[in-house]
Amino acid sequence: MAKAAPQIQSEVAALPAHIAIIMDGNGRWAKQQGIARVRGHKQGAEAIRTLLEACKTRPHIKYITLYAFSTENWNRPKDEVSDLMELLRHYIRHEAKTMHKEGVRLRFIGDREALSKDIQKELADVEAMTAGNTALTLVIALSYGSRQELANAMKRIGQKIADGSLKPDAVTEQMISEHLDTSDIPDPDLLIRTGGDERLSNFLLWQSAYTELYFTEVLWPDFSGAHLDKAIECFSQRERRFGARNE
Ligand code: FPP
Repeated sequence: MAKAAPQIQSEVAALPAHIAIIMDGNGRWAKQQGIARVRGHKQGAEAIRTLLEACKTRPHIKYITLYAFSTENWNRPKDEVSDLMELLRHYIRHEAKTMHKEGVRLRFIGDREALSKDIQKELADVEAMTAGNTALTLVIALSYGSRQELANAMKRIGQKIADGSLKPDAVTEQMISEHLDTSDIPDPDLLIRTGGDERLSNFLLWQSAYTELYFTEVLWPDFSGAHLDKAIECFSQRERRFGARNE
């Protein structure tokens, strides 16, 4: 009997359905222009609009996850933190209705309790309003840190073990994924970091185990549809083997 062909868990990467982005370089962009940092962040918010516009003509993109504010960002000077929170408030209030009309589902990940009560309410309202949309899911990471997210997942799993409803042997990778903030979101195919640094900075550490990484010197406020295409082009030339081997 002929031997069945070995199952190789591999595929030539086609086009990415989920793109995660570390939007770095707002401060340097502002410095280059000789203007205040906050204006760099405002231009960064503009770049998000440009990105979402570009997604409309690239329908293979079904998920975008943006690192907007990390747990470490709380350590920035008070003024900058409050500028970023104000920008976020403004952005959500003004963009949510347009995004809803365009079929965008909004999701927020991270430690919401650390955010002010009014922002927490806005986030919950926007998530509820857009929950049924299917054109694109925009995930915004706010007060997010991957290690904190994993620690929280471990606490909840540990609690189930402590109360006897779960056996330690029954803990699986899938179960851990299901206890993360991203439980309803597939892992990213492509992760882009702008601004020239080449690290993950505590972003989606578990979820990006097999994600293709793309680093660019372009500062986030300058990131355009053409830059997005370049990253996608690079992705599509890579071969994703997921740890297997191609003979
Ligand atoms: C990193 O640039 C960027 C941030 C810490 C914030 C990202 C925020 C935005 C793009 C705009 C606001 C977001 C929303 C969702 C409204 P940096 O300040 O570290 O830049 P630098 O490395 O050049 O100093």
